[in-house]
Amino acid sequence: MFALKKTIYFTGFMASGKSRIGRSIAERLHATFIDTDALIVERQGKSISEIFEEQGEAAFRKMELETIQEIAADSSPKVVALGGGTLTQAAVVSLIRKTGIIVRLWASPEVLSERIGRKDTRPLMSGLSPEERLEKVKTMLAEREERYALADFSVESTNDSEDIVISA
Ligand code: S3P
Repeated sequence: MFALKKTIYFTGFMASGKSRIGRSIAERLHATFIDTDALIVERQGKSISEIFEEQGEAAFRKMELETIQEIAADSSPKVVALGGGTLTQAAVVSLIRKTGIIVRLWASPEVLSERIGRKDTRPLMSGLSPEERLEKVKTMLAEREERYALADFSVESTNDSEDIVISA
């Protein structure tokens, strides 16, 4: 059986499929799967929207960084789904580059915006009309592109009824 030798960190914009694909890859590799957003929600006993609302984005980013520090400190290889904005923190980038490989998932702004609109769980996209949401996705993607481009490789995840397969 294939044994994972390095941690795989999935990055990419909101709704690019990090959690869904990360979980599926982890199952196939019989590896531990960690979704950093889900872990934060579980530990705080609050949704991401409640954390943003009550404590602000900066507090959430600090929680993200602490979560990654903890994950990186454990040397056993695993599959990790990051939040869409995790790589905006330089400290996170250097930590995960040292401890694993980074896979970027991507889809067009139109596909991402449509998926984001299916449920209102993302505070940075809340309360927007479909047109405003698409514009914001385009703007944020452009702002973050430099960080996502640090990934070791990039995989298209447009078709959300299919899995991607990563072979080592
Ligand atoms: C965010 C993405 C979200 C979540 C938070 C902020 C972002 O995760 O961490 O709402 O800044 O892009 P997903 O990428 O899983 O939606």
